[in-house]
Amino acid sequence: MHFDVIVIGAGAAGMMCATQAGARGRRVLLLDHAEKLGERIRISGGGRCNFTNRSVSADNYLSQNPHFCRSALARFSQWDFIAMLEKRGIPYHEREHGQLFCDESAADIVDMLKDACDAVGVRWAMPCAVGEIRQLTDAGQNGARFTVDSEKGHFSATSLVVATGGLAIPKIGATPFGYRLAEQFGLAVIPPKPALVPLALAPEVLEPIKPLAGATLDAIAEFGTARFRENVLITHRGLSGPAILQISSYWQMQEYQAGKKAPLQIDLLPGIDAAAWLAEHWQSRMLLPNLLAQQLPRRFAHEWCALLGGERWLKRPLSELGKRDLEQAACALQGWELMPAGTLGFAKAEVTLGGVATDALSSKTMEAKQVPGLYFVGEVVDVTGWLGGYNFQWAWSSGWVAGQFA
Ligand code: FDA
Repeated sequence: MHFDVIVIGAGAAGMMCATQAGARGRRVLLLDHAEKLGERIRISGGGRCNFTNRSVSADNYLSQNPHFCRSALARFSQWDFIAMLEKRGIPYHEREHGQLFCDESAADIVDMLKDACDAVGVRWAMPCAVGEIRQLTDAGQNGARFTVDSEKGHFSATSLVVATGGLAIPKIGATPFGYRLAEQFGLAVIPPKPALVPLALAPEVLEPIKPLAGATLDAIAEFGTARFRENVLITHRGLSGPAILQISSYWQMQEYQAGKKAPLQIDLLPGIDAAAWLAEHWQSRMLLPNLLAQQLPRRFAHEWCALLGGERWLKRPLSELGKRDLEQAACALQGWELMPAGTLGFAKAEVTLGGVATDALSSKTMEAKQVPGLYFVGEVVDVTGWLGGYNFQWAWSSGWVAGQFA
């Protein structure tokens, strides 16, 4: 019951790590409590898995240490993962913003990783609930440094790799296991928060924009220096759509700072100088909502004017609106401020912000600096990618790196 390497969590990062450690001749056991293998890969990207992105850099990730991910991303890059797929003959295609998806099914990737594990003799214990983990003070003759109690027996290992992911979508098996284990070994954990998540608006903010629910806009969502131009969707609970999911991760970073929270801004007219455009029409007999309907959905333009300017903006032609009205409208069009009340939580989040503090880990190996033989890979670590294949790339890269050393 002794293994060179025990990997806990047979998701993207865990399977990648197991294939690599196995290929080095290490005896590897992969443990997972789930019934189904790689469920998060299988359901991702609408069943097609957005497995990586053509353009990946540390700038696409959020972390308390934004440089931490550099080394792993460089050592096992998007091109290395693409080469794996091509070798296996998995067809894929590119969508906007360099996102790469399987042509047929995300299950192709699960099968590829499962076969790669089997080819190097990885042993599986799944489904298998994992219990107590202990560090041995004196390494045994076989080099055992850790013991793992589980439903399928009592195991020991020289290296222990924790690849248990984050907290998003608890109903498919997400648990705080990795964070608890890190704390057990004295590693700091940056409090996990939902990220890439729809934002909720407070009832008093939501009520007046409720008539806008269902509207989809090509807009720029901004928070601090982060800006994303994609669709923004107004929902009956708040804001969603890719631009909002992207900006939500940055908005959530405020949770780690003391002080008053700031709102986010939405530029409703990306690429247009709203002040100049409105000024061109200041003598027009047209109504403001009708002018805005040239650039925005008609219903949205109407409700937005009602919300921000009331009867005045709805009923008076532009020529009768004063300079201040037009300035105010231009300002709000280019930076509509909305203060989220929070997020829709882990149940609706795609990933987790925060996790095992990177200070405690080596960026070259993913090993805990103070606990030889203990590794953390994938989403459990405080590295969170943008929407667009970046989170899987982090899972592949960090899992691959740990697999060279564990
Ligand atoms: P992952 O969550 O994949 O694996 C963790 C494993 O650990 C699971 O198999 C789990 O069962 C197991 N585990 C957890 N607790 C355990 C315990 N206590 N005992 C034993 N086993 C335990 N990213 C991207 O780049 N492109 C995309 O298209 C998508 N799409 C997407 C859709 C949806 C709906 C979600 C929720 C997420 C995405 N993501 C994504 C994010 C991506 O799925 C995620 O970042 C990676 O799967 C993380 O890989 P890990 O291996 O770290 O964790």
